[in-house]
Parts: sequence; structure tokens; C-alpha cells
Amino acid sequence: MPNTPKPVLSLAGRRVLLIVAGGIAAYKTPDLVRRLRERGAAVRVVLTDGGAQFVTPLTLQAVSEDTVYRDLWSLTDESSMGHIQLSRQADVVLVVPATANILARMAHGLADDLATTVLLATDKPVLVAPAMNVRMYEHPATRANLALLATRGVGIFGPDEGPMACGEYGPGRLVEPLSIVDHLINWFAAQDAPRHLAGRHALVTSGPTHEPIDPVRYIANRSSGKQGHAVAAALAALGARVTLVSGPVRLPDPTGVKVVPVETAAQMLDACRAALPADIFVAAAAVADWRVDGAADQKMKKDGSRPPALRLTENPDILATLSAPGPQRPALVVGFAAETNDVVAYARAKRARKGCDWIVANDVSPATGTFGGDRNSVHVIRADGTEDAWTDLPKAEVASRLAAAIATHFVNGKN
Ligand code: C5P
Repeated sequence: MPNTPKPVLSLAGRRVLLIVAGGIAAYKTPDLVRRLRERGAAVRVVLTDGGAQFVTPLTLQAVSEDTVYRDLWSLTDESSMGHIQLSRQADVVLVVPATANILARMAHGLADDLATTVLLATDKPVLVAPAMNVRMYEHPATRANLALLATRGVGIFGPDEGPMACGEYGPGRLVEPLSIVDHLINWFAAQDAPRHLAGRHALVTSGPTHEPIDPVRYIANRSSGKQGHAVAAALAALGARVTLVSGPVRLPDPTGVKVVPVETAAQMLDACRAALPADIFVAAAAVADWRVDGAADQKMKKDGSRPPALRLTENPDILATLSAPGPQRPALVVGFAAETNDVVAYARAKRARKGCDWIVANDVSPATGTFGGDRNSVHVIRADGTEDAWTDLPKAEVASRLAAAIATHFVNGKN
């Protein structure tokens, strides 16, 4: 007999109520059930009528080795397992694929089938993995529904960006089953982690800024916001109340975080000031150093004469402004420094110049792929002279380590 390696039972003893809604990505849910069970989870499935168009109850029943619940009005289901009981006998309710329709029904508290009734009746955490056509995902109604659900503490996994069943390309693809399992394992780990930052308010900036040239053109940079968003999520996972002031990014809002969207550096500074007081400030945004002096109110025309000259003027330095001594200064201010050479030396000088307590320095020379990529190598440089080097880690791991270091700083009573 070949020696097959035993899977790590990281979901051992966890009870997952999986709600399968009606989108093409529902065809991936039997695999998801298998993967969850491989890791030790007990999975019970509720299938919507729409979901049953894409995957059969029999398939889900076979892979879950349990009854598949479908009908709010079924006498047998209701007598053996009512919707209240169903919703309470799990540790977590997971909606996959979370279609635009079920998200809308959840956001507005509808209870017109077994799935939505369970979702309204549950006292357990709810996690969703959205999957839909890119236009549906980007529609303001869906964005607003997701934002509303996030403020209510619903966890959101994905979506991914890529080619879609409908032939279009963009965000809206279901996160792959194995990644959903990883997200879930991390989510349970975060629930179990000590909430060392409970009661603290963390303010985080993320993403690029867009500085208008005229109403249709702007100056921007290549920041994806991945690192800043991950820091916000990691601080929230440690119990902090997090306000994330974000420039334009193509990322889902992190779970349990209040997101304030802005475009320009001036708006970012105003939003940061409005969010004070805060105990922690992490400036991870790639703020444009300059904006166009006197941006045009109307679209500039190509009128045959020479191209217009853009006169630039300096933007406010948000990090330096919030680092300045004063009653509103956050107890711990952490800046980022993106350098392409002599990373540590430049970052040390930058920390002193900006007046922040710590600086997280990374090498963004094109060969590193840091901008827009998923991995990062950083040096953490502190005012007290101590340093850490974290090499070639996923941005989420850099964020977790930074959040843990911040928690240690507060737990050790430095503030
Ligand atoms: O000066 P430099 O842009 O390299 O500094 C990077 C750090 O300063 C980052 O933490 C960034 O968020 C912050 N910054 C800022 N406002 C600016 C420029 C940079 O908050 N106008």
C-alpha cells in the first residue's frame, strides 16, 4: 500500500454550515465540501433553488455524508431540523458562492427561503465567498451591500480576479476551494488568538492617491494597497478597532474594518484627521508627493498648439503631520519606506526626518516585484535602535508580524 500523507486536521471538530447559492461557481462546492472534511470539519449543506440548478442535492449529500437541507416548508426537514436549530448547530455559516442576489437578500434582512431564514436566525459568525459577473460585482448596489455586511461583521473571502465563466475578465471569480479552506483555517486561528489590541483604535492608510490633472486625467502610482489592507486586517484580527483610509484600489474591504475611500493626498489627510484620536497610526499608503497646481475644471483639449506644461506643487506629508508632537499624536506611529537602494540607511534617516516611531522599509526595485506582488521583504527600524528583518514573506504574513509586534509594544506597557 502506498503511504499517503495524512492531511493536517486543522479544522478538526469545527462544524461548518455551508449555504450553496445559485451561481455557476456552485459546481466547485462538492470539492469544497471534500476539502473541508479532509481537514476534519463536519459540513452540513443548505442548498438554494438557484444552487440546485448548478449542483445536485445528491452530489452534496454524498460528499457531506449528511442530509442536504433545501425547503423551508418541508414538514420532514422542519420536524427533524428546524431553521433555528440548523443555524445554531454550526460554529460558522459559510456562503459559497455568495451571489449578488443572496448578498442583497442578506444585506436587507430578507427571509424568503431556507438559506436566508437561516442567515437571519443564526447567532454564529457568517462568512461569504462572493462569485459573480464582474459588472455585477462592481455595481454600486453590490458594493454597498458588501460594505454593509462587512460593517455587521460578515467576513468576506475574495473574490479573485481573472477570466470568468461568462467570458469577461476581472474581479468576481470564486476563491478556489483550497484557498477558502486556508482562509477558514486562518479565520478560526484569528478567533482563537488573544485579542491584545482590544480597546485600541488603529488608523491605517493604504493604496495610491490619484491627483487630478483635469476631470478625466490624473497622476497615480503602482501601489496595489495589498500590504496596507493586510495590515488593517491583521490589526483587526488582534481586536483593534480599525479605520482604513484607502486610495483607489481593486481590493475587497478587509473584514471588520471601517474603510474610508479617498482619492487625493489632501482628502487622505482630512480623513485621517477626522478619524483621530487613534492609539496607532500606520502609514502604508503610497501618497503622491506632488499634485498639479491649479488642476483644470474642464477636460483639457488638444488644440494643435504645444502640449500643456504641468506645474506641480507639494502635497502635505500625512505621516510627518500626524507624527508631530501634540495632544492628538497617536501613541505609536509607524511609517513605510519604499526604497530602491541602501534601504536601511535611507529608512533610518527617513524615520528621524518624519518623526515616526517605527519605519517598515522595503526594497521596491523592479526586480523584487514588491509593487503589486503578493510577497515582501522588510526591515523594521525603531526609534530605540532595535531592528527586525523579515525576508520573502507573503504580505499577509508581514502584516501579521507587524500587528503582533505592535501588540507586544502595547502589552509591554510602552504606552
Ligand atoms: O517620503 P516617502 O514618500 O518615501 O515616505 C514614505 C512614508 O511616508 C510612508 O509611510 C507614506 O505613507 C508616508 N507619506 C505620507 N504622506 C506623503 C508622503 C508619504 O503619509 N505625502
